Amino acid sequence: MSDIVEDEIASSSIISNLQALDFDYVPEELPHREDQLRFLARIYKSLLSKNPQNVFIKGPVGTGKTALAKRFCTSFIKAARKKGVFIEYVHINCRKRSTDSLALLGVLNYFDPRFPDRGFSVQEMLQVLKKQLEKRDAQLLLVLDEVDALLRKSGSSLIYSLTRFADEEALKSNPISLILISQHDVFQMLEPSVLSTFKRTNIIALNKYTRDELYDIVKQRVNLAFHRNTVSEESIALIADIASEWGDARFAIELLWKAGLYADKQRDYKLLPEHVRAAKADVYPIITESKLLNLDKHQLLTLYAIAKKLQKSDLAYVTTGEVEKTYAITCEEYGEKPRAHTMFWNYLKDIENAGFINIKISGRGQTGTTQLISLPDIPASVLSERIEKILNSSK
Ligand SMILES: Nc1ncnc2c1ncn2[C@@H]1O[C@H](COP(=O)(O)OP(=O)(O)OP(=O)(O)O)[C@@H](O)[C@H]1O
Ligand SMILES: [Mg+2]
Repeated sequence: MSDIVEDEIASSSIISNLQALDFDYVPEELPHREDQLRFLARIYKSLLSKNPQNVFIKGPVGTGKTALAKRFCTSFIKAARKKGVFIEYVHINCRKRSTDSLALLGVLNYFDPRFPDRGFSVQEMLQVLKKQLEKRDAQLLLVLDEVDALLRKSGSSLIYSLTRFADEEALKSNPISLILISQHDVFQMLEPSVLSTFKRTNIIALNKYTRDELYDIVKQRVNLAFHRNTVSEESIALIADIASEWGDARFAIELLWKAGLYADKQRDYKLLPEHVRAAKADVYPIITESKLLNLDKHQLLTLYAIAKKLQKSDLAYVTTGEVEKTYAITCEEYGEKPRAHTMFWNYLKDIENAGFINIKISGRGQTGTTQLISLPDIPASVLSERIEKILNSSK
């Protein structure tokens, strides 16, 4: 047995730097996001003279929102330091920290990893934050990533306090600047008093990547992560083609990574289109499986109803009314009693919060408060197949 292990460890890989294929890895350069980087620099330049700024970055999944913010902030605080200005950069993922105190705790833990996670009110934590910044004579550039999760769960009171920090703490100027990030348009979730601190011009809307843009992004990753001449041009083109359906760079990079692993597994020294095709078949389930297992039965049944309805309709959206009917039928198929309307609504909100679906209010031409549901990240057929497996295995 030990031979197997030894063999595997010794066997060579076409991947030279696995870390560069990691989800959290941010390359030095971000192809096709240069304009946005320059735009951010132009706006936040005013921090050098202690004038705070707030920016909102929005765009669909995998369009580089997080990567752009990380690359900008890291470079910016370095450049500011050279000019003698101290800026601390803290990046909070609000899906993981979706209450005011959890988010704030994340910030305080950055300054003091031993700051206790209990026993302080939000107001007290803001006081501590003020002291930390004074002690360092620093400003704070705070990124609230996936901020819709925080807004949905806790409203905009934390963002209000942060944008009014100077008034509340009797300071001359606000030492805190924000970057809010979301796939969804969060301005409608902000109260007017908070909204007024965001300039309409301080919005960056990222678009889905085109096929050619994805090609450049994958090509860059190949150079960063693979040994020279181990990835064929056609493979890069095929990855770009496949991923262009979603315009999602994360999906493209995951395909590249998986295809690399396949090539290794087969002891091939060149990554070829056949490896890409094999990887494609593998990628969806991996993205969604663990997320699906976090859902309870009725949340799953609701999501299943949406996937089935979308699969049948060939349309981009289904209405909540249609889904509720399909949900009731699906429940019966699985021997479950359909839950009441309000519970069904909660399930929809839950799976929206988990990032599976988008819900938007319908435009003109539809009656009442109809809401439209879409499935942005995954083909309906793939999703319904996955859920079916889970539901059947728990029967
Ligand atoms: N322009 C780019 N150049 C190189 N890599 C990129 C670029 N844009 C995105 N990536 C890479 O693609 C992956 C997804 O990007 P990122 O995490 O920034 O997407 P996102 O818009 O934040 O998505 P989500 O809405 O799911 O959070 C990351 O690994 C990131 O490094
Ligand atoms: Mg992100």
